[in-house]
Amino acid sequence: MPTIGIIGGSGLDNPDIIKDATTLRVDTPYGNPSSLLRVGTIGSNRVIIIARHGHSHEYSPTEVNYRANIYALKHQGADCIIATTACGSLRAEIERGDFVLLDQFIDFTRKRINTYHESFASGAVHTPMADPFDSALRAHILDCAGRVGVKCHPRGTVVTIEGPRFSTRAESMMFRSWGADVINMSVATEVALANELAIPYAAIAMSTDYDCWKTDEPPVSWEKIVRIFEQNAQRMIALLRMVVETLK
Ligand code: ADE
Repeated sequence: MPTIGIIGGSGLDNPDIIKDATTLRVDTPYGNPSSLLRVGTIGSNRVIIIARHGHSHEYSPTEVNYRANIYALKHQGADCIIATTACGSLRAEIERGDFVLLDQFIDFTRKRINTYHESFASGAVHTPMADPFDSALRAHILDCAGRVGVKCHPRGTVVTIEGPRFSTRAESMMFRSWGADVINMSVATEVALANELAIPYAAIAMSTDYDCWKTDEPPVSWEKIVRIFEQNAQRMIALLRMVVETLK
């Protein structure tokens, strides 16, 4: 029976899906994770949940201790990680409330430690990153999305920006021209680190806005992201529950 790590993003920092949850305070060589770990079961599988931005959303995307989060999950026995994230859509066909199963990233962050191998004192490490998201997990999630009846795009390239500000219109247009489908502030860092620790990782992104490239509507705002995420959180929870319960 696998242990599944869940990293809950904005709006799903604390999904209430675990039975008999206990909380665990852990420390890592990289410092404390963003939140206490909530450990319990869903179906017959063990689940460990971390709130990416802290339980009160107190950590900005730059401040999140991504290394501690991934390390803590690995150390507590997670066999894989499923992350949720809000994202902006860079494509007309990815509508508000749609889910996107990410398969590629473009890293546009600037101020984060995004590796466990800053020093090569003990030897050089260059981790392959051609296909960073786990294909078996993605296939399973897509199958579950069909069973739960939620609209889920089977692939998508995410561009992760540093934040906390949103993009300018010129940046948004540029990301579209680069082939990015959605935009967020966390996933590239997280999935790269998971690959360095060899933990299969998949991310379910929920589209909450059209960033600012679409000039026939007002640009994204944080208030709107939160509103759309709250409106759709139950669908994400239903999907997560099915994904975890049926994972072998
Ligand atoms: N998260 C949700 N919407 C976003 C956007 N437009 N840009 C960056 N991160 C986001």
